Formats: sequence, C-alpha cells, structure tokens
Amino acid sequence: MTTILVVTYILYYPLNKSTYLNFNSFIQYVLTINIIVTIVISSLTTNHLTEKIKGDTMKKPATHPSYFFEINTSFWRRNKPQVLGDFIGRPEAIALLNSTANKKILDAGCGTGYVSRILALKGGIVFGCDADLESIKVAKRAEATNPLGISYRECDIRELPFDSEFFNYIVSISVLVYITRVEIWSFLQEAYRVLKKNGEIIISIPHPYMQSIESPARKEVFNWIKYCPLKIFDKESQKFKQLYFNTEMEMFSAEVWSHPISFYIESLKQHNFAISHIKELFIRKKHLIRKEWGSQYDYPGYFLIKATKKQ
Ligand SMILES: C[S@@+](CC[C@H](N)C(=O)[O-])C[C@H]1O[C@@H](n2cnc3c(N)ncnc32)[C@H](O)[C@@H]1O
Repeated sequence: MTTILVVTYILYYPLNKSTYLNFNSFIQYVLTINIIVTIVISSLTTNHLTEKIKGDTMKKPATHPSYFFEINTSFWRRNKPQVLGDFIGRPEAIALLNSTANKKILDAGCGTGYVSRILALKGGIVFGCDADLESIKVAKRAEATNPLGISYRECDIRELPFDSEFFNYIVSISVLVYITRVEIWSFLQEAYRVLKKNGEIIISIPHPYMQSIESPARKEVFNWIKYCPLKIFDKESQKFKQLYFNTEMEMFSAEVWSHPISFYIESLKQHNFAISHIKELFIRKKHLIRKEWGSQYDYPGYFLIKATKKQ
C-alpha cells in the first residue's frame, strides 16, 4: 500500500507541477486513481471468470479478483447514516413495521447492529444474528457501552437458533443479495418457522435495476455504488462485484447476487407468505450528498417487500 501511495504521489507531480504539497487534491487524485484502477482490474479479471452454476447448487466457491482499499467490517461500524442505504432503504424498511413497542424482532443479518439499535430505541425487543463473528463482536461491544437490551448471536440465517413462533417481526436489510437462491429458500423456511401467526417479514435489497446495463452503477465512472458483472449465473440470477462508497469515500467491496424481483415475490408466496407491500425507492438529487457519489438520479435504488405469515 505504501508503495502504491509513493508511486501515485510521484506520478501526481507531472499532472500538478505547481506543488507536491496540495494534500486535499492529492487525496482526491488517489481516490480517483483507486476507483479507475479497480474498475479496469475488475473488467479485465472478470473476463476470465467463466464459472457457471448449474441447477441451484453452487459447485465451487466463487473466486474473485482482489482490490485495493478493501474495507469490510469496519466499513459498517457506524452510529450515524454513512451509506446511501442509511438515508433511503433502511428508514423506509423500519417505517413498514406497524408498532415496535414490546414486539420481538429478529434483525436477520444484523451486521454491526445499526438497524438493531434503531429498532431497540423504538421499543422493540431485538435479537440480532449474523454469520460474521467480527460484526457480532462490534455489535456486542456497542451494546456493552450503551445497553439497549439487544441480544446478538453469531448464526447463519438459514439455521435460526430460535424457538418456533417466537418473533412478531423479521427484518432483513441488504442481506439476501449475499446468498444464493436455494439459500434464500432455506432462510424463508426458517423465517416462517420462527414467526408467530400473522408475524411479518420485511426484506430490503438494493434494486436489481442497479445491476442492469443502463444503470448509473454500471454506466458512470463515478457513482455511490458500482457493479461489475461476474460470469457466474444461477438461472435468472447473476453475481456481481459490488463497490460501495460511504460518506467518507471509504470503499467496501463484496460479491453479491442480483436476483430478479419476481424471484423474491414467488419465493415468498411458495413459502406461505402473503405479500402486503412492495415498494421501489428512487435515488433523488437530495440523496447525492457527495459529488463523488455521482450526478445521476431519479432511478430505482432500493426494493422493499413486506409479507405476512399465512397459517
Ligand atoms: C450489507 S451488511 C447489512 C447489515 C445490516 N443488515 C444493516 O442493514 O446494516 C450484510 C450482512 O449480511 C450478513 N450475512 C450474509 N449472509 C449471511 C448468512 N447466510 N447468515 C447470516 N448473516 C449473513 C453479512 O455477514 C453482513 O453482515
């Protein structure tokens, strides 16, 4: 990393002959180079990925190119809105819960507990579970510092360690894009089991429009989120490399699935849920609070679905 910074700084001189000491523009320059290099590397390397998934079972773990500035758990450690989803997808998903006071709520794939804490502050009895132990440790530390009565557990959402008919609500925000179609079915089976009668599930995901070829996340060099297609398919679903920038312009990269909206709808119906709400949330001009987050707006950025457990 040091070498990259030194080389970048040296290369920076011919472009900005006036001074080496203009630190702000140097940082802007490094970020720009980082984004461009990441996009070029991903488009070159992903051409070699020809892995295909047959049927619904992943034959081998997905391989992916490595990127500069990969930041994972720490990226999601936040107490205030820091990624675009914190201004759109998350508040809208939480608003879909009718009443939270004294209701048992499962935050499925809670990460570092950002949503769990909001739900607990709204009076919910919150349980957070996530497969990433580091995230759970961060969430538990926040709970120890500022107790809100939240119970966190390391677990896979496909095998929920809770009694049947325990929860009034399940929320799962920006999680199901990380798992395959069959894994989503396992989760829905478990969600059905642990929900009380008439219990509700709320699922929020980045809108699949964003992975389409015409979306700013594919077309524009600068955008708050970027998607590079991987040649990994599972029926109508496709895997993408995702690059996500927060308000500090730190980058998070991950591999995610783009499952069609119809897949979520059909899967919920097949698992005996009645759909009560479907919402597409649009990115508006006011949401692009950093100029590096891009200049395109008025397109669908998030998708929400709420469903009730049928008997
Ligand atoms: C983008 S983060 C979202 C975290 C949180 N829901 C939020 O809105 O802030 C996605 C989380 O899903 C978790 N996750 C992905 N697959 C999972 C699985 N099979 N079981 C449990 N957690 C999972 C990841 O570990 C990660 O913490």
